Amino acid sequence: MEYKLLGNTGVKVSNLTFGTMNFGKDADKNTSFKLFERCRDAGINMFDCANVYSKGEAEKILGECIKNCRDELIITTKVHFTAGDNINDRGSSRKHIFNQIDKSLKRLNTDYIDIYFLHGYDENTDLEETLRTMDDLVKNGKILYNGISNFSAWQIEKAIAVAQINNLNKIKCIQPMYNLVKRQAEVEILPMAKHENLAVFSYNPLGAGLLTGKYFTEKEKSNPDIRINRDKKYTERYGDEWMREVALRFFNFARENKYDPAALAIAWVMHNPAVTAPILGARNLEQLNSCLTSLDIKMTDDLYDKITSLSIKPPSPTDRSEKS
Ligand SMILES: NC(=O)c1ccc[n+]([C@@H]2O[C@H](COP(=O)([O-])OP(=O)(O)OC[C@H]3O[C@@H](n4cnc5c(N)ncnc54)[C@H](OP(=O)(O)O)[C@@H]3O)[C@@H](O)[C@H]2O)c1
Repeated sequence: MEYKLLGNTGVKVSNLTFGTMNFGKDADKNTSFKLFERCRDAGINMFDCANVYSKGEAEKILGECIKNCRDELIITTKVHFTAGDNINDRGSSRKHIFNQIDKSLKRLNTDYIDIYFLHGYDENTDLEETLRTMDDLVKNGKILYNGISNFSAWQIEKAIAVAQINNLNKIKCIQPMYNLVKRQAEVEILPMAKHENLAVFSYNPLGAGLLTGKYFTEKEKSNPDIRINRDKKYTERYGDEWMREVALRFFNFARENKYDPAALAIAWVMHNPAVTAPILGARNLEQLNSCLTSLDIKMTDDLYDKITSLSIKPPSPTDRSEKS
């Protein structure tokens, strides 16, 4: 395992992060403990969570996992999406964040969160109010750093500017979606992150499973238990015909060249110099072990270019595609 700097914080993070979205859902408690231990054995020191994963259950399970090694780890969680039945149990208002932080700390059984992510952009809350709230959380020791997820590049730049003008705690990292079929981040977000020295923890490295190629096999293509078939959000996100075509090209390429498709898809994300660490998702040890073999792949520039060319390059931000 390699370790990289979390922006300019001096903190070192493993170049793979493990995501706990499956904890308490596709992975029961016992399996979650095993997944956590396997990640630790592999050298992973960062675990991503959110207040809404399995309605808080993921934070509780992660809290149990970390009880004997808390200080060795970088623990994240998030706030923003609907977390309860009350009209104000959502968004990035001061009220919602203040209510949620203590619930997350309690469930995680910890005094502080390393990175607290805003899980999305809130059109209804003044960004200064949100960032001032995050700044207060840093000042009172409940969080170490704030990060943002699912913001567009202009929203991230706006947040950076609002924090700077108001002398608030700086944003240290972002969490965008990024994989071989979802390459929008290459257009604005990843170059911006490099320019601003933001750490990037990208999610969905396997396109929620699409890039493993299992949807093209007789056994799995109509399996109602796997995410893309079961969860409408993901069926829609990865439902375009061209995405399936890219995934099939990639799957065939991986097989012809004797790579595990899951490992190769993750290694491709890791090779992007703007990415600090992809966030892995697995529901069992078999999947996790396959994902971890990405660490053994020697990703040359040539292999990287070949894989990239199987996909579709998003248009340039200025629409000037000519080279000169
Ligand atoms: N910030 C955000 O908005 C956001 C959004 C999503 C995720 N995240 C974070 O990112 C983490 C990872 O995201 P993700 O779970 O969507 O990642 P992903 O790698 O794109 O998808 C993981 C899923 O693919 C399937 N899979 C994994 N390894 C496999 C293998 N070797 N062979 C076959 N199938 C395999 C499993 O689903 P099935 O077995 O059901 O097919 C697994 O749950 C999450 O845990 C969470 O922490 C953040």
